[in-house]
Amino acid sequence: MSQFEPLHNLQITTPSEFKGFTLTPSTRSPRLLELRFAAATVQAFLAEAAQWPVQALEYKSFLRFRLARVLDELCEGTLQPLLINSLVDRASGALLISAEGLDQVSQAEDMVKFATAVAHLFGRSNFDAMSGQYYARFVVQNVDNSDSYLRQPHRVLELHTDGTFVEQDTDYVLMMKIDEQNMEGGDSLLLHLDDWADLERFSSDPMAHREMRWSAPPSKNVRADVFHPVFDVDAQGRPIISYIDQFVQPRNFEEGNWLAELSASLENSPAKVAVPVPVGSFLLINNHFWLHGRDRFTAHEGLRRELMRQRGYFTHKKVLRQPRQ
Ligand SMILES: [Fe+2]
Repeated sequence: MSQFEPLHNLQITTPSEFKGFTLTPSTRSPRLLELRFAAATVQAFLAEAAQWPVQALEYKSFLRFRLARVLDELCEGTLQPLLINSLVDRASGALLISAEGLDQVSQAEDMVKFATAVAHLFGRSNFDAMSGQYYARFVVQNVDNSDSYLRQPHRVLELHTDGTFVEQDTDYVLMMKIDEQNMEGGDSLLLHLDDWADLERFSSDPMAHREMRWSAPPSKNVRADVFHPVFDVDAQGRPIISYIDQFVQPRNFEEGNWLAELSASLENSPAKVAVPVPVGSFLLINNHFWLHGRDRFTAHEGLRRELMRQRGYFTHKKVLRQPRQ
């Protein structure tokens, strides 16, 4: 896990201090910030981005950062510091981002561009072994034969963090809704570590810092096992977590039962927050102190949901050397 630098807490300023977007705390949780880009910002961004198809962004990594600059310039430099500060702020660390007028599946390519621009203002998205790109689009339908719960609709996808079974740092997770048809239920589920009543109990247990083995099923295209403990600490000594129930491989009775208790405690936490994510919107969370999952949804023959994800590492240490005003 990476250790990030201490930063001041985010001061939520009035929307008038931001250019091109507004920011309000979510009614679902005061930790979750709702960032809405104005239609004029979105249109100007897409007009400028039209010169770069998504394929160009796939082939030339640096164009993702170029695209990010386009968006920040449209926001007169107010977007980048806001994103950086809110993502590393332990009290928040989560945003629900929407772009006005970007809400139809026919705009999927533009959605990928928009999310890419946002992500590359504070980080760099990792190679995603499942798709072979820096992002992954995938579909959830009524019937599924995959080898994990990721695409299986009628089950809860339990709370977890991403990147547990890869060597790359996974500081952030971005989860976008590209399409949704005949969906009932299926909200995103979030839990902030500091809202979990059993944090102290589990993070101070000797088992918390024991190296465990993590291995993924074949669809993830990751062959080598990874070894790390469930809990670590950040630069300030606060607990952070790297955990997923399906891919941890306890070596014995003691580890297995401790993990089962951990899983039950997380799933039963009343501090879990359900967040509906509309088409064209995305959740962006700090992957060290937020766990995420997905609620079950109701069977329907015409059910279709398409999602896009990016996971990556923060580059903000460098960015903060030259803060914008
Ligand atoms: Fe995940």
